[in-house]
Amino acid sequence: DKAGHKHFMAKEISEQPGVIGEAVSHYVAADNTISLPDPGLDFTKFDRITMVACGTAYYACLTAKYWFEQIARLPVEVDFASEFRYREPPIPGRTLAMFVSQSGETADTLAALRYCEGKADKIASVVNVIESTIARESDLALPIHAGVEIGVASTKAFTCQLTVLFLMTLKAALDRGTITQDQLADHISALRSMPSLINIALEQNAAIRDAAQKLSPARDVLFLGRGAMFPLALEGALKLKEISYIHAEAYASGELKHGPIALIDENVPVVVMAPRDRLFDKTVSNMQEVMARKGKVILISDRAGLEEAAEGTWAQIEMPPVADALTPILYAIPAQLLAYHTAIAKGTDVDQPRNLAKSVTVE
Ligand code: M6R
Repeated sequence: DKAGHKHFMAKEISEQPGVIGEAVSHYVAADNTISLPDPGLDFTKFDRITMVACGTAYYACLTAKYWFEQIARLPVEVDFASEFRYREPPIPGRTLAMFVSQSGETADTLAALRYCEGKADKIASVVNVIESTIARESDLALPIHAGVEIGVASTKAFTCQLTVLFLMTLKAALDRGTITQDQLADHISALRSMPSLINIALEQNAAIRDAAQKLSPARDVLFLGRGAMFPLALEGALKLKEISYIHAEAYASGELKHGPIALIDENVPVVVMAPRDRLFDKTVSNMQEVMARKGKVILISDRAGLEEAAEGTWAQIEMPPVADALTPILYAIPAQLLAYHTAIAKGTDVDQPRNLAKSVTVE
């Protein structure tokens, strides 16, 4: 049942305020205590986290690396399950192994989990399907509470994975004494305001559709971002590839002049994800290098960022201001909608893109 939407993807995008609110209320009590399901995790017992996943879930892990390292000062390694399982990496003592999977049935992720059995101190999974094999085989399974996701392109599962990973970061930071109670309260109140901020982002639908119309004839599109906006750029490029079949690549903005800038000309639209945070000026200077080479920029930022840097850009998408740590959750919305409307403009099959399956249970 698409609940009045044309596609499951549109329905699932629109459900995000509700399901993220749900996920938060499952983990956080009124007094701000964060409880993980039994048997819980004591982050003073780990010196590192190894995170393993595929596709969009992998990008959720890459985003979480920024959080765990910055907020909980805990080193994180992230790997594709298909690489990890055959590389057979050494797993040092005091390692928490984490597996993120919407379906909980992805073959490579499951094989990577089994490789860690008896080697990692603890195995935790972040899943949507709590009865799944990956959940069952973990010491601790954390549900993301996204509800059933039908569209092949993952949307609400991604933002719910991010929400749960952010809460795990806060728990880790508390256990390890890297944040104060006041900082915790600030983070949680920012997280509690996510549903209403996402509603504001969803109201930008028409502007995003206009940008998608302009984008749709392109053969190649680049996505740029810095810091935790880099994994978001990767996710935006994956969404666009999956459902619109446009070749899209993402780069960390600072990598631009190490090669990819050679691709830029008037035929290559470049989506720049740049909230007005401490890295904004750096990203904007990369964006100006793109424009100097006639690249057409779609700038996604907040009002302050657009006022400062929108001149000369091809299209602008305005997001509401949001706490720096939580930009990845909010900026997922325009990334998803841009792909969605580009696919509509191209007339592709949004919910069942060619060659793809919802759950990849064979390698
Ligand atoms: O069920 P999983 O989260 O393990 O699936 C992982 C990937 O196959 C999945 O995220 C895929 O990349 C999506 N189609 C992305 O939209």
